[in-house]
Amino acid sequence: MTILALNHILLIAVPSLIVLILVITFLLILLLKWKSRNSSSSTTTTSSFRKSSIDKSQISNAIAIGYSPDMRSCMYNGKLICSTALKERKRGGGQVFTYKELELATDGFSPENVIGNGGFGVVFRGVLRDGMEAAIKVLHREGKQGEREFRMEVDLLSRLHSCYLVTLLGYCADQQHRLLVFEFLPNGSLHRHLHPAPCNHHYRSLDWGTRLRIALDCARGLEFLHEHTVPAVIHRDFKCSNILLDHNFRAKVSDFGMARTGSDKVNGQVMTRVLGTSGYVAPENASTGRLTTKSDVYSYGVVLLELLTGRVPVDITRPPGEHSLVSWALPRLTNREKVVEMVDPTLQGQYSKKDLIQVAAIAAVCVQSEAEYRPLITDVVQSLIPLVKSQESTSRYHHHIVVPVL
Ligand SMILES: Nc1ncnc2c1ncn2[C@@H]1O[C@H](COP(=O)(O)OP(=O)(O)OP(=O)(O)O)[C@@H](O)[C@H]1O
Ligand SMILES: [Mg+2]
Repeated sequence: MTILALNHILLIAVPSLIVLILVITFLLILLLKWKSRNSSSSTTTTSSFRKSSIDKSQISNAIAIGYSPDMRSCMYNGKLICSTALKERKRGGGQVFTYKELELATDGFSPENVIGNGGFGVVFRGVLRDGMEAAIKVLHREGKQGEREFRMEVDLLSRLHSCYLVTLLGYCADQQHRLLVFEFLPNGSLHRHLHPAPCNHHYRSLDWGTRLRIALDCARGLEFLHEHTVPAVIHRDFKCSNILLDHNFRAKVSDFGMARTGSDKVNGQVMTRVLGTSGYVAPENASTGRLTTKSDVYSYGVVLLELLTGRVPVDITRPPGEHSLVSWALPRLTNREKVVEMVDPTLQGQYSKKDLIQVAAIAAVCVQSEAEYRPLITDVVQSLIPLVKSQESTSRYHHHIVVPVL
């Protein structure tokens, strides 16, 4: 009887005990997991907080890395970026690099890393300490005047932030060396794609949709300088080689280092020596040095003509009457029959005549000789938006890849 009772008790107690142990173990695991998650999140917060108080430049880099033209704010109807992170970057200004750091980044300024050579110096591709790619511009040294302009340029570039402008990551003013460090745009300049050197067959022709989007992106860049900056900034050297393309062929405007704010005006106009590039300089600027935002609109019109025709602004190898792109194009732009004949032959079959006529009309008003009749760049942006939108909805956008021809 006692043995039977004992057996009975054991039969009930043992499984209950096992279940109890299992429940307790499960609860313990849950408790431990919850504790470890809490402690790890608090460590992250603390460490990032410490980092931010130690090194603001690292934050700038992180922002630059996460700064993509694919962000909503860079879409056609969107407003320009003004995230908290970007505001922080605006306050922080550019990162200061030592010459040694940049020497390391470019493999001792190796000729293999040269990506361009402009009027202001040689441009190298480099990889910064944190692994980020950069375009490093080594400036010519030009005495005290050059030093003042360098400071002004750094100051201006550090204050202007838009996803349609090439970002200044930092600068180097180490002893006699003066360098600017920009975000790297892997597809280089628009000039390289529209007018590749005859021996260079590495570039495919940009298609109509891509050209339209580039036209809109860089109009947005100028719009930022003219309309969203106080006082307005005049680019002064807007041209194909100062339009850079990212991996998705989204365009950003560069080299507004030559830009001067509209504040140094005399009777409402900036008076200056002509500094732009031949073929892009507005007539009033070339003849009198008078410079307004409308001078940029003229240069923009020339770029639009290059996108339409694939021709360079000045080409003395062409027959007489065709040397200047603007003079050759103007009478054709408003002629419904002739306009088709002037389009880059590689674009054949890619555009509707209606769209072509509209783009040609925009180019025509931009390059007219009377500055006051040229549109504001904001008007250009508004006219291009529907064209780009309809183009994107009808044809799926193809990414252009630079494919070496075998
Ligand atoms: N941020 C960048 N990312 C990628 N490539 C760049 C960058 N900046 C410049 N480059 C390349 O270097 C080339 C030279 O640039 P640079 O601005 O020095 O001269 P430029 O624009 O050709 O002439 P200019 O001196 O009259 O402005 C550009 O055409 C481009 O191919
Ligand atoms: Mg340039």
